[in-house]
Amino acid sequence: MKICVVGTGYVGLVGAAIFSDWGNPVIGVDKDENKIGRIKAGEMPIYEPGLSEIVLKNIKEGSLSFTTSLAEGVKESEVVFICVGTPQSESGAADLSAVWSVAKEIAQNMNGYKVIVIKSTVPVGTNERVKKIIQENLSGNCDFDVASNPEFLREGCSVEDMRNPDRNVIGSDSPKALSILRSLYEHLGKPIVECDLRSAEMIKYASNAFLATKITFVNEMAQVCERAGADISVVSKGMGLDRRIGHYFLNAGIGYGGSCFPKDVAALYKTSSDQDYDFNLVRGVMNVNKSQKEYFLQKVFRYYGKNLSNKRFAVLGLAFKNDTDDIRESVAIEIVKYLRGAGALLSVYDPQAMYNSKQILGDNGIKYCLDKYETLEGSDALFILTEWKEFASLDLEKVKLTLREPVIFDGRNLLDWRKVESLGFTYFAVGKRTNGVEKIERKDVYSTAILKNENNHH
Ligand code: UDX
Ligand code: UDX
Repeated sequence: MKICVVGTGYVGLVGAAIFSDWGNPVIGVDKDENKIGRIKAGEMPIYEPGLSEIVLKNIKEGSLSFTTSLAEGVKESEVVFICVGTPQSESGAADLSAVWSVAKEIAQNMNGYKVIVIKSTVPVGTNERVKKIIQENLSGNCDFDVASNPEFLREGCSVEDMRNPDRNVIGSDSPKALSILRSLYEHLGKPIVECDLRSAEMIKYASNAFLATKITFVNEMAQVCERAGADISVVSKGMGLDRRIGHYFLNAGIGYGGSCFPKDVAALYKTSSDQDYDFNLVRGVMNVNKSQKEYFLQKVFRYYGKNLSNKRFAVLGLAFKNDTDDIRESVAIEIVKYLRGAGALLSVYDPQAMYNSKQILGDNGIKYCLDKYETLEGSDALFILTEWKEFASLDLEKVKLTLREPVIFDGRNLLDWRKVESLGFTYFAVGKRTNGVEKIERKDVYSTAILKNENNHH
């Protein structure tokens, strides 16, 4: 099956690579000349484990090519996947301008029957509108169908997710389009959900919002655990063993980020409001997620006071999650900005996201370190903000020797609190009554007593 993939970002590039690896001739199209130039030269514009090998192999074998010409890609293919970005607009809704313009250009370049498949995450009704745009702009008298085929790829393991999906969802009102897409995926032997366009579009939002809710539930449980003296890591483990709950996405932290969850949850809320329905639970998820990082920062301010101008902090992790160089909507970056705003100097390190972070954060007040241990030199505390595996195996003796003070703020519960505390660290995590929490509570009781005393004197 001859395939064209429009948009070679995190989703499109992985899609194009794997489709070609399955034996289909694929043309990847992107309007970004620099990106296409780099890919053609064998250099991946993003970090994604395993991707580079597959792209290079299939370029070499001639089944995968790249161009900036959408016309060329469309003319050569029977199936055209739209994988352009759908970022969040001011109103919270998805910005679909790229989808509309690509749809129009596809229509103007049609030269025979094609299935136009939208893979980008788009709100209910988008596929129908794309169908209309294509009809209105068709060159000649070509037949075509529109289909929705949402992606469920997690950055950092999207190659594996695409090869071994839990399911594929294909929505269309055309049996011919459904049959073509079925033949693309059925060799995987995984469930294929065939449905109408609107349900397919909604499955994507419902899934992402549900997963964001799962994380948020655990983040809120963490608040209760910390106050009640329970340990959220143990509670999550105990919950996750129930197969109805499952152990995925039960890690408490600093709140979810990334290019998908925040925008998709907001877009689902907007969709429901547009249908005159106030989706209370989803509104709550958005609010709790915002306060999750504030709650983490509060501990820092309760420990040090509001002014951090005489502090330097070591920061491990800038990407929005592990195994990616992506910093879009990264809570780690937001926390770094906040700490810098309060006067702190920062020594930062991330295994993959240094270049992207530098573009956003600049040099002011930030030292970019070459490895995780360099961040510790001259630092008053260590912050762990992204769940990279290599941070869990830090040499804690070395950390203690290098830091000016043995203090750790672990935003991802990566370390074992017993071990950390037994080494003499003051330790803050999420959803556990660690010795750091006890210290700030004693401090708060003390300052309340002073305040009371002063008031009595007046
Ligand atoms: C995007 C969407 O944001 C997401 O909602 C959806 O589920 C999958 O597609 P991602 O692949 O991460 O996610 O986006 P991004 O990395 O920004 O890549 C989009 C690519 O499309 C960029 O390379 C951009 O240059 C390209 N593009 C955009 C075009 O080729 N033409 C356009 O008109 C607009
Ligand atoms: C997500 C969806 O998982 C994927 O199916 C969809 O297609 C795109 O959006 P992605 O954004 O790549 O994928 O990352 P994901 O692994 O879902 O993590 C999202 C955020 O949640 C990250 O900030 C991560 O750190 C956070 N998270 C995840 C937690 O805080 N706790 C968890 O238990 C899991």
